[in-house]
Amino acid sequence: MIQLVEVTKTFGTGSSGIENVSLSIDRGEFVFLVGPSGSGKTTLLRLLIRDMVPTKGLISVNNVNIGNLPSDKIPHLRKQIGVVFQDLKMLTDRTIFENILLPLEMAGISDNEAKKKAEDIMSQVGILDHAHKFPVQLSGGELQRAAIARALVFSPDILLADEPTGNLDNTTSWEIIKILQDINKAGTTVLMATHNMDVVVSLNKRTVTLEKGKIAQDTKKPVKSEKEEKEGKEHSEKKHHEEKKEPEGEAEVKKEEESK
Ligand SMILES: Nc1ncnc2c1ncn2[C@@H]1O[C@H](COP(=O)(O)OP(=O)(O)O)[C@@H](O)[C@H]1O
Ligand SMILES: [Mg+2]
Repeated sequence: MIQLVEVTKTFGTGSSGIENVSLSIDRGEFVFLVGPSGSGKTTLLRLLIRDMVPTKGLISVNNVNIGNLPSDKIPHLRKQIGVVFQDLKMLTDRTIFENILLPLEMAGISDNEAKKKAEDIMSQVGILDHAHKFPVQLSGGELQRAAIARALVFSPDILLADEPTGNLDNTTSWEIIKILQDINKAGTTVLMATHNMDVVVSLNKRTVTLEKGKIAQDTKKPVKSEKEEKEGKEHSEKKHHEEKKEPEGEAEVKKEEESK
């Protein structure tokens, strides 16, 4: 579904965004992209939506080589890939509802259909009550939900999220993660760049680590031995006792993981 073959992106300044990255992500996967600031996470995400072109290498999305995609085909690519940018890019002079409607209107979708779609999505991510507020009137978590809603308007196959919990407290972070997990369970491939190692460790999903633009590690789906599985459980049970106040989202996520 997503394939990068020996992809390098070098900027005019000479700094290398990513270097010789090969990566393949299947339909339906949930993948974390981790690495220190400046390691190339955002560059990789931007390459996938053709926000920039690679200096070298091949990138394909849904079996289409996006490196030589004619510009009139880019809107189609961006309907297949929803993105939540790190800075969210919400328009401050429009309400949340208007922000979410905008891409639908620009795609020429009829008013009624667009409004229905926007309402459905807002209700799905729990932001409908705030529809007629302006971005400045929302909390960080609510804004993140709104940005996720906007990224989902075309029911994309793939959702990219760039540090969606970067500015959120622990409880709110887990609420956002829960939403991303639900979206993934409904069939959307999710690629999430993050610094939040608590989340990464707890979810035990495939994790791709970038260091200085190169892939330092790719866990794929870790196949745990029985011993490790047991030790992991004991560890998390102990943690449950130690942590008196555990946010709801985290507890739920853990339960789901354990029941697999
Ligand atoms: N538009 C750009 N122009 C020049 N250098 C850039 C640009 N975008 C990113 N870089 C450089 O590429 C490297 C990776 O950046 P980035 O992908 O933003 O990392 P991360 O998202 O992991 O923090 C950094 O050294 C950064 O300075
Ligand atoms: Mg970044």
